[in-house]
Amino acid sequence: MDGVTVIDHPLVQHKLTIMRKKETSTAGFRRLLKEISTLLCYEVTRDLELTTERIETPLQETDAPVLEGKKLVFASILRAGNGLLEGMLELVPSARVSHIGVYRDHETLQPVEYYFKAPESLHERLVIVVDPMLATGNSSIAAIDKLKERGAKNIRFLCLLAAPEGIRNFKGAHPDVPIFTAAIDSHLNEKGYIVPGLGDAGDRMYGTK
Ligand code: URA
Repeated sequence: MDGVTVIDHPLVQHKLTIMRKKETSTAGFRRLLKEISTLLCYEVTRDLELTTERIETPLQETDAPVLEGKKLVFASILRAGNGLLEGMLELVPSARVSHIGVYRDHETLQPVEYYFKAPESLHERLVIVVDPMLATGNSSIAAIDKLKERGAKNIRFLCLLAAPEGIRNFKGAHPDVPIFTAAIDSHLNEKGYIVPGLGDAGDRMYGTK
């Protein structure tokens, strides 16, 4: 699918299957989410631009590769996005973090924004927006609207599972934002849950319900 990268690495797929199982505990779900987010982060940053820096090894001077440009921004859509953040920050500890509070009204399935905080100079940074579930797409569209209002131009969206309906909706609103996901599931049910999915990601990672 154009603009959508499915991260089909065997370790990602294996861990995702365990996360989907209803008997997986809260602790197990959280641990797997942290592990898988590290792998997803590796893939979503695969083509970052490099420059070189003159360094001195114990043997001689050499030009060695380093990331080009300003520090990355990881933008977490609360609350479930935070589950992806931890592993990603382990891989890119210098990344800046944005938090965007959006919840889904359970009646209308429309996003309601209640919090927004982002670092300066968004226009000069790659912003990787994270939310485990791309369901209707409404929350992620609203979060990216807000980031763009604040100047972000170079944005990627990273999730664990996506529904075809959400992808269509998202691409209609933000065709310039590539989507990275571990799987595209069958459909959304009448309550807006991804099927077969893994349930409510926030509830599963925090043991609420
Ligand atoms: N959010 C979730 O946590 N799970 C879904 O299936 C859809 C949205």
